[in-house]
Amino acid sequence: MAEPGNIVITVIDRHGEAHELEAPTDMNMNVMEVCKAYELPVKGTCGGMALCSTCHCYILSDTELPDMKDDEEDMLDQAFFVEDNSRLGCQLRITDDLDGLRIQLAPEAEE
Ligand code: FES
Repeated sequence: MAEPGNIVITVIDRHGEAHELEAPTDMNMNVMEVCKAYELPVKGTCGGMALCSTCHCYILSDTELPDMKDDEEDMLDQAFFVEDNSRLGCQLRITDDLDGLRIQLAPEAEE
């Protein structure tokens, strides 16, 4: 169980290992930042501007997510390994609605 004010998201890393991350809903964080805080291999090169796709992940749970904005869609158009359930972690803000979210990190693209 998460502390009050926190939610728990599960992140499957690139080795198939699941990590349960507890994330605060009151710090204006996004999924990319939470992964980085737990030292998962998410680069977040652009700092969350939807410009790099290093936070690309696949949504595995049926969690209801906010719709994609144009910049996220544009970036995913250019990213590698994109699937129907692809999202950019930096565009998913940590709110109560994301409690129980399960994601998998997308493979790293060659740079
Ligand atoms: S951190 Fe660059 S697109 Fe998400």
